[in-house]
Amino acid sequence: MKVIAFNGSARKDGNTAGLIRSVLKELEAEGISTELEQLAGKQIQGCIACYECFKNQDRHCAVKKDMLNECIDKMLEADGIILGSPTYFANVSTNIKSLIDRSGLVAKSNKEMFARKVGAAVVAVRRAGAIHVFNSINHFFFINQMVVPGSSYWNIGLGLNPGDVEKDDEGIRTMETLGKNMAWVMKKIEFRVKPFAADQDCLGRVLQKRPGSPGFFCQSQVSENYQARIFRSLAENLGPFFMLGSFFTNRLFSLLLITSMALTTDMR
Ligand SMILES: Cc1cc2nc3c(=O)[nH]c(=O)nc-3n(C[C@H](O)[C@H](O)[C@H](O)COP(=O)(O)O)c2cc1C
Repeated sequence: MKVIAFNGSARKDGNTAGLIRSVLKELEAEGISTELEQLAGKQIQGCIACYECFKNQDRHCAVKKDMLNECIDKMLEADGIILGSPTYFANVSTNIKSLIDRSGLVAKSNKEMFARKVGAAVVAVRRAGAIHVFNSINHFFFINQMVVPGSSYWNIGLGLNPGDVEKDDEGIRTMETLGKNMAWVMKKIEFRVKPFAADQDCLGRVLQKRPGSPGFFCQSQVSENYQARIFRSLAENLGPFFMLGSFFTNRLFSLLLITSMALTTDMR
C-alpha cells in the first residue's frame, strides 16, 4: 500500500512539510510506503474549463504543459492521498487549488477514478483561517467518493517560520494520530478490496502464533457477517474448486480454515 503526499506550500521544507512528515512517519511505521511531492518552485496552472477531459476519457488533463498529469498518475497509483497546504489568506495555496480543480474534473469525467482511496488534509497556519483550508481540501475528498479518517483535532498545526510547527505539541500529536488512523482505515479497505490476500496473511499469522492449533469451529465467537465475508472471499478466489471441496470432499478443512482466520482477527 502506498500514500502520496503533496506539499502545496510555496516554501519547500516549511511547516506544511513538517506536519506532513509527522503523518508519513506513522504510516511508514505501519508498513505503508510513502512519497512526499513538494510543489514549491513548480507551477501548476488553474483549470481552463475546456472540458476536454470529458471527451478524451483518458484519466488525464488535456493541458499537458505542466506537471499536473504526473501528479494525477501518482494519485492513481496510490491507495491514500494527502493534500497539505499552508493557509494563504484563509484559503489553500495556488498550487493546491489548481491540483484540486484539474485532478477533480478529470476524476469526475473518468468514472470517479479516486473513489474509495483514503484522503487526508494537512494544514499549516500562523494564526487563523486554517479551518477553511481544511474544509476546502475535505470537500475535494468527499465529492470524489474518498474515505476520510479523523484525528483527535482538526488536522492543523501552528507556526509562522519554518520549523515553528515542531513546537506545537498538540498539532504534532494530531498529525501522528491522523497517520495511525489513516493506516488503520487503509488496511480495512485493503482487506475488502483484496480479501484473499488479506486472508492468506491472516492465516499465516495464525499458523505462526498457534502451531498445531486445531482451530475448533466456534460459531458463537465469530459474527455471521465475518464468516460470510471469508466464505465469499474463498468462493470468489477458488471458485468451483472451493465449492466442490467444501460440499463434497473437504468440507471439514474449509470450516477449520475459516475458523482459524476468524478467531484471530479483530474483524468480528
Ligand atoms: C501569502 C500568504 C498568506 C498568508 N495568510 C495567512 C492567513 O490567512 N492566516 C494565517 O494565520 N497565516 C497566514 N500566512 C502564514 C502561513 O500560513 C504560515 O507561515 C504557514 O506556517 C506557512 O507554511 P509553510 O512553512 O509550509 O509555507 C500567510 C502566508 C503567506 C505567504
